[in-house]
Amino acid sequence: MSYIEVSYPKRRGEEFYKMLKEQLELYTGGERDQTAVLANASSVLAQAFPEANWVGFYLVDAGELRLGPFQGRPAVTRIGYGLGVCGSAWKRCEAIVVDEVECFEGHIACDCNTHSEIVVPLKSDGEIWCVMDMDSVIPSHFTEEDRAGLEGCLDRLLRR
Ligand code: SME
Repeated sequence: MSYIEVSYPKRRGEEFYKMLKEQLELYTGGERDQTAVLANASSVLAQAFPEANWVGFYLVDAGELRLGPFQGRPAVTRIGYGLGVCGSAWKRCEAIVVDEVECFEGHIACDCNTHSEIVVPLKSDGEIWCVMDMDSVIPSHFTEEDRAGLEGCLDRLLRR
């Protein structure tokens, strides 16, 4: 399989998220291995969001979040329940959009260049099994449209 570069619309609206969904399906659909799926999903997301300086997954494991496949600089490997943006999204069972990470109490800094962040929990059989985390160097980079769009695209990445 060779990767064919796609050019996403500048505005992250309906068309953008339709393309992202297709790309995720193309590079993860039919694969059974969890690591392979999340590795390709993080790559697809990084291509779609060139302004993201980190994108990847943390998996629920024995009561905490454990670092999974990602693109970006090395990151914290374990995050406790309710801690940081990732642990908070897990605890609240909902996506969190952070306009300026310095203003989020308890934010865990991995890359000092990060300004904004979005974390989307993924569910399988009604249970959160993983969270997708994306950081941007641009303040207020992620919107409610991104939250809805990403939720819609990522809900097919089921626990293998
Ligand atoms: N900022 C996250 C930690 C993970 S890194 O951004 C990759 C948090 O506060 O949970």
